[in-house]
Amino acid sequence: MSHSTTPPFPPQAAVQAARRLYNLNVRTADPLPGEQDANFRLTTESGAVYILKIAPPTADEAVLDMENRALEHLAAHAPALPCPRLRRTRRGEGIVPLAAPTGAPRPARLFTALPGEPLAHRQPHPPALLEEIGYRLGQLDNALATFTHPAMRRPLQWDLQHAPQTIARHRPALADPARRELVDTFLHLYQTAAVPLLPYLRQSVIHNDGNDYNILVQNGANGQPVVSGLVDFGDMVYTHTVNEVAIAAAYAALDKSDPIAAAAHVVRGYHLARPLTAEEQSVLFPLLCMRLCVSVSISARRRREQPGNPYLTISEKPAWATLERLAAIPPAFAADAFRYACLMPSCRRPDAAPLSGASPLPELSPDEIVARRRRHIGPALSIAYRRPLKIVRGFMQYLFDETGRAYLDAVNNVPHVGHCHPRVVAAAQQQMARLNTNTRYLHDLLVHYAERLCATLPEPLRVCFFVCTGSEANELALRLARTHTGRRDVLVLEHAYHGNTSSLIELSPYKFDGPGGMGAPPHVHKTLLPDTYRGPYRADDPHAARQYARHAQDLLRRLEREGRGIAAFFAESLPGCAGQIVLPDGYLREMY
Ligand SMILES: Cc1ncc(COP(=O)(O)O)c(C=O)c1O
Repeated sequence: MSHSTTPPFPPQAAVQAARRLYNLNVRTADPLPGEQDANFRLTTESGAVYILKIAPPTADEAVLDMENRALEHLAAHAPALPCPRLRRTRRGEGIVPLAAPTGAPRPARLFTALPGEPLAHRQPHPPALLEEIGYRLGQLDNALATFTHPAMRRPLQWDLQHAPQTIARHRPALADPARRELVDTFLHLYQTAAVPLLPYLRQSVIHNDGNDYNILVQNGANGQPVVSGLVDFGDMVYTHTVNEVAIAAAYAALDKSDPIAAAAHVVRGYHLARPLTAEEQSVLFPLLCMRLCVSVSISARRRREQPGNPYLTISEKPAWATLERLAAIPPAFAADAFRYACLMPSCRRPDAAPLSGASPLPELSPDEIVARRRRHIGPALSIAYRRPLKIVRGFMQYLFDETGRAYLDAVNNVPHVGHCHPRVVAAAQQQMARLNTNTRYLHDLLVHYAERLCATLPEPLRVCFFVCTGSEANELALRLARTHTGRRDVLVLEHAYHGNTSSLIELSPYKFDGPGGMGAPPHVHKTLLPDTYRGPYRADDPHAARQYARHAQDLLRRLEREGRGIAAFFAESLPGCAGQIVLPDGYLREMY
C-alpha cells in the first residue's frame, strides 16, 4: 500500500522494471504495505521471490545507499544472519530511478525476500523465540559495529536520543490529558534515569526498528517458531547501541500479560550475543518506555494528518495499553529484572558488571563475607538461612540479591514503609543535608511532626517523645511507668520481645527463655499469650479475649496479695517473635 502523499505505483510497471533492469521474469507482483515506500513482492517464473522497494521521489539517496551498503556489509560479515540481500541491476547499480506514470522518477532497489510471517501475526511468543530475537539483534550489532557511512548521523525522529524533542513536537496531537500525563511520567523517568547515563553508552550504527512487523518468524525443525528474517533497514542510524535491544524489547512487551518478562527474554538473548554494560542495562527500561511514547506520539500526529492510513498507526492501541501497564511497574523493579536477565547463570560471565551504584570497594562473594564476618563481627549476630543471602538493595516491598534476583520481603525485621521508598529517601536526604541535631533547639518541623502524630491518637496519649529506636521507646515507657507508679514489676506476654537493652532483655521471654537466657527475673511476670490458633481458647470461642485476660487478672491478684503491684503491662500490638499473633478482639481493652 502506498503512502497517500505519493502517487500509487502500478504493479505492471514493477514487472516491466524487473525485466528491464534485473533480468527477472516476474510472474506476480503483489503490493505490500509500507510506511514510505511502494513495495512489491515479486515472484519470478522460476519461483524466486524478491522485494522491489520504490522510495518516494523526495527520498534521500544517501540514506538509501547506507541501507544498501549495510546489507552488503552484513552479507560479508554475518552471512548466517537472515537479512535481505541487495540485488544490483545488470549494470551494477544499487539504486535506480524508476519513472513513475505520474510524478518524478523514484529511486528503486531490489532485495531478496525472506520466508516467514511478521512476529505481529504470530501468537504466542515463546521465551525461546523472544530470546532468539534478542540474540539475532545482538549478532547484527556485533557485525554493524565496524560499519560506517556518511549518512549515518542523520536526524531521525525515531532515533531515541532525540525522543524528548520528538515527543514535544507531536505532543499537541495527544488530545486526552490522561494520556499526555502518562507520556510525561515516562519522559520524567527518561530524564532522571537515562539522561545522566547517556554519555557512558556505546554508540554505533543500528537497525533501530526491531518492531514486530520487521521480524519474520517461521516454524523450525521442532515445530517451534524461529526467526527467519530481520527486515526493513530504513530507520538505520548512528546512535546509542542499546536502543536496538530497548526497541525490540518494547515491541516484545506489547499485548503481554507480563511485559517485563517478555522484554527480559529479548534482553537476555541480546546480552548473550553482545554483552550489555551495567549502564546499558540500567537505561533499558526508560528507553523501552520512550520508544512506545515516541510511537504513540507520532501515531497521534499521523492519525490527525492522514486519518485513512491504518499502517501508520498499527501499533498505537497495544502501545498505549502496554504503557498503562508499564506505568504500574516500579522502574527499579524493571531495571533489576533486566539486570537479572543478563546475569542468569547460563550467561553469567566472570567480567559481568556489578549492580551499578554498588560500593566502589571490591565486591565480595557471599562465602568471603561469611569468612570475614567470622573474623571481625561478634558471633551473636546470627545469619539467616542455610545458604545466606547477600542482599545488595531494596525497593518498596522487594529485596534484591547480588544477581539481581528479586525477593518479596515478608520478613526483613520490621519494615514499616518498605525499602527505599523514593519519597522517604528524598525526605531523609534533604534533612540530613540541612540539619541533624538535638531537640534542645527550637525547630518548626519538631512541632509540625508532633501535631500530625498526635492528631492520630486519642487523649490522653497526645504527647510525643522522639527517640531513634524501638528499644529506646520501650526504655522510656518503662521509666515513665516506674516513675509514675513507684513500682518496679512488669507484666509481659509469653514469647515477647521488647528490645535489646539490658532492662528490655529482662522483659523479653523470647530472650530470657531462649538460648543463653537465664529465665524470668523476679520482677517480671509472664501471662498467657492470647493465641486463638494454638492457645487454650480458640478463635471459635466468643469469650476468648476475656478468658485470656482472666489469666492475667488472676496473676495480678496474686501479686497484689504478695504486696507487689506492677508498674506496667508491656504487649506488642502484633506479637512478632511469638508467631505474628493477631490479638483477639477486645483483649487489650480487657487488659488495660
Ligand atoms: C516488637 C519489638 N519491640 C522492640 C524492638 C526493638 O526495636 P529496635 O531494634 O529498633 O531497638 C523490636 C525490634 O525488632 C521489636 O520487634
